[in-house]
Amino acid sequence: MDKLWAGRSCGTLDETADGFNSSISFDSKMYQEDIEGSIAHAEMLRKCGIISDKDFSAIEKGLVSIREDIESGKLAFDLSAEDVHTFIESVLTERIGETGKKLHTARSRNDQVATDLRLYMKKRCEEISAGLKALILSLTDKAEENQDVIMCGYTHMQRAQPITMAQHLLAYAQMFIRDYGRIKDAVGRMNVSPLGSCALAGTTYPTDREYEAKLLGFDGACENSVDGVSDRDYCVELLAAFSLIMTHLSRLSEEIILWASWEFKYIELSDAFSTGSSIMPQKKNPDMAELIRGKTGRVYGDLMGTLTMLKGLPLAYNKDMQEDKESIFDGAETVIKCLSVAAPMIDTLTVLKDNAFAACKKGFINATDLADYMAKKGVPFRTAYKIVGSIVAYAVEKGKTLDEITLGEYKTFSEVLNSDLYTAIDLKTCVEKRISKGSTGFVSVKEQIKKVREFLND
Ligand code: ARG
Repeated sequence: MDKLWAGRSCGTLDETADGFNSSISFDSKMYQEDIEGSIAHAEMLRKCGIISDKDFSAIEKGLVSIREDIESGKLAFDLSAEDVHTFIESVLTERIGETGKKLHTARSRNDQVATDLRLYMKKRCEEISAGLKALILSLTDKAEENQDVIMCGYTHMQRAQPITMAQHLLAYAQMFIRDYGRIKDAVGRMNVSPLGSCALAGTTYPTDREYEAKLLGFDGACENSVDGVSDRDYCVELLAAFSLIMTHLSRLSEEIILWASWEFKYIELSDAFSTGSSIMPQKKNPDMAELIRGKTGRVYGDLMGTLTMLKGLPLAYNKDMQEDKESIFDGAETVIKCLSVAAPMIDTLTVLKDNAFAACKKGFINATDLADYMAKKGVPFRTAYKIVGSIVAYAVEKGKTLDEITLGEYKTFSEVLNSDLYTAIDLKTCVEKRISKGSTGFVSVKEQIKKVREFLND
């Protein structure tokens, strides 16, 4: 395909260099946004009297026909084109003749690509936000179903205190709610139009940048043309937000993998979201969760690549910036795929309530409650803590759990220990009595579920 920039240079580009330079293999994804942006630009040129009504109609008709033909498969991307922008402009000129050449008035590929990428990422972010909401809903439904399932809460991967499965799942709902907010914030900052910044310095034509910005759904036009063409902060912000989504998905996946193991067996994954082994007939593998965990690294790589690509760039546009697209597309696509598999994986898993509860029996996870019981009877907490420490050491030695120690044995440790201690250390009581805001108590969990649902309905 002929080069649109064949102005000064008369020689032909080396074939290898040409292929190396080309981005159409990946930026063709933005054809809709490129056409949308071009139509808005032409509309602005018409409104400002820079092109005639007739020219605008021809350009618009030509661009619409290109979109239709790409979508019907009639027009294939020419991989010898430099990028999606030059491809569409060349096809337009082929179709409507000289008028097509007027489209690039008061515009450059530098502001064009910056505009297309923002428009494209806004759409992907809508999908990501919807995916986040779907996952939050799955977690909340699963939490609601399992409000009474008592399990071990862990610190240092050691059994710590009894919590409910609902409380644990709702912790993830909170992470994804923050992720939703981060995407919303980043999109809000990204929603300004670079279009009309031209190559870097703006234009001598009497354009109306605000008008074309509004046509494209932006809040307004960016304030500085040099910044307009060289800003890729939004790529970094989005990739950072995507990385954190992946961190959360990866932590959740790790727990699913652990919980599905025979060592835990707190959950059973549905057959639809697990796989078998080609040699071991008994295997049921949590591949989906493992893949999500594994793909997290790619998204971190996308973020690092983009940050590193930007760090030494002088203003304004540099070709290095073409590298932004593969990273941000990969990041977005990976997040979209992972969210789309995580939600139904959560929906379809079964919580094995008895196994989760059985694990609570070991590990003295009600020891804090015994210390609280003593403290409420007037023993300073630090002293109570020490006494319970020695009770636990005694229980370990005797091979007993705290509820198996007799009152007679308890009395040798402290006079304040009475028969009501058994209710205080009952696992259900331990959960029920947690009344602080956000705690694992049944009432608090109900309140949390209500709030998450309010967020989802908003
Ligand atoms: N394909 C290029 C990119 O993705 C488009 C902008 C090219 N601009 C230029 N002056 N060479 O960044």
